[in-house]
Amino acid sequence: MSTSRSDAFVFFGATGDLAYKKIFPALHSMIRRRHLDAPIIGVAKESWTVDQLRERARASVQEHGGGVDEAAFATLAKRLRYVSGDYGDGATFDALRRELGSAARPIHYLAIPPSLFPIVVEHLGRSGSAHDARVIIEKPFGRDRESAKALNETLHTVFDETAVFRIDHYLGKEAVQNLLFFRFANTFLEPIWNRNYVESVQITMAEEFGVAGRGRFYDETGTIRDVVQNHMLQVVGFLAMEAPAISYHESIRDEQVKVFREVRPLDAKDLVRGQFRGYRAEPGVALDSSVETFAAVRLYLDSWRWEGVPFFIRAGKRLPVTTTEVVVKLKRPPIRKLASRYENYVRLRLSPEVTIAIGARVKKPGEDLIADPTELSFVHHASSDEMDAYERLRGDAIAGDATLFAREDAVLAAWDIVQPILGNATPVHEYDPGTWGPAEADRLTAGVGGWASPKGAK
Ligand code: BG6
Repeated sequence: MSTSRSDAFVFFGATGDLAYKKIFPALHSMIRRRHLDAPIIGVAKESWTVDQLRERARASVQEHGGGVDEAAFATLAKRLRYVSGDYGDGATFDALRRELGSAARPIHYLAIPPSLFPIVVEHLGRSGSAHDARVIIEKPFGRDRESAKALNETLHTVFDETAVFRIDHYLGKEAVQNLLFFRFANTFLEPIWNRNYVESVQITMAEEFGVAGRGRFYDETGTIRDVVQNHMLQVVGFLAMEAPAISYHESIRDEQVKVFREVRPLDAKDLVRGQFRGYRAEPGVALDSSVETFAAVRLYLDSWRWEGVPFFIRAGKRLPVTTTEVVVKLKRPPIRKLASRYENYVRLRLSPEVTIAIGARVKKPGEDLIADPTELSFVHHASSDEMDAYERLRGDAIAGDATLFAREDAVLAAWDIVQPILGNATPVHEYDPGTWGPAEADRLTAGVGGWASPKGAK
């Protein structure tokens, strides 16, 4: 893998929603931090002038980038170019090739619907714009194993796998990286981080909001495809992996894919699906939709470290809070009088703030031997100036560092896990907004004392 920096940043879909919400703010922020010094070329079919694109960029940074830094924005505006044309027309790509000028290692960001990837990739190749280039795409990476494979084949007609950067923004989150760091930077954790001491692992990704205007997208996707196959499994990977070797570049991704291959493909009996009441009245959602807005799964890893330890994932929209939290419950110490298994745990909150907490029992001061459940915790609130996941990942892609991107084999292995439960593998149960999903989900965790509600939540 070459780590030479990309010397031009091209983004397709320059006038679209993703560019407006995420790309312009990230570019602005990168320039402000002096992390980007390449020309920036937007491509889209609207026949705009570059000045119109600049105006759009300013509005985007204003609305989604925490305000405009005039010096940084002036640089962004100066570097910005615009190629307008149809993606099906070779002339658009010839114009792009001319704009690239002497750039020897461009990076192409496909902020466009996946159905357009084949034609754009083909034209990038034909026009010579893909030579020594990199490509960035965002999830979803297909909608099942088959389509993910087809997507990879399309990309590989022109780009080598080492030049493909698949963004799963969870991998770029500070808190998710902290999982790895915390696990392997602390001696006290490693001896207990296995089937001998861990009773169960739970991951809750709760969102108080609903489909937020994305009804059409969501109704084609559902929770399992939207966040379980990718974000949640990445978290499982970081929690469960062996220590990566530090001697070679792909070691983290190699360990990650090993975990995915150890996870048993999910079975319908390990799944409960829910749909919040009112979902079918959302714009863009089918009146008779049976797509899930909540999924709870129980998974097992066939590995030396985790044999027999259930991992639970619960994710959904319109739940009581917005937070993502991991609880690793430890087994109960043998003296029953002093111990309760539910107060020995490690709690890792990934958002909105980063918390690492150790749940323990201490003695309540006084004559009697009464336990006081307590937590030793570290909390980090992100400052407004902290790099967000998207900015970090774009910077890494430009620098050619693929560590935090989803690799082809990991994407396919993750689809293998969820493939048996896609679609209507189980009935969908209705739940009231503001609750923890359908009561049926309690069945999954009944053997380990129930779901651990995120701290501070009802
Ligand atoms: C996206 C999903 O990938 O992640 C959304 O499509 C979800 O449905 C979002 O809300 C959550 O990401 P974050 O970083 O806001 O927790």
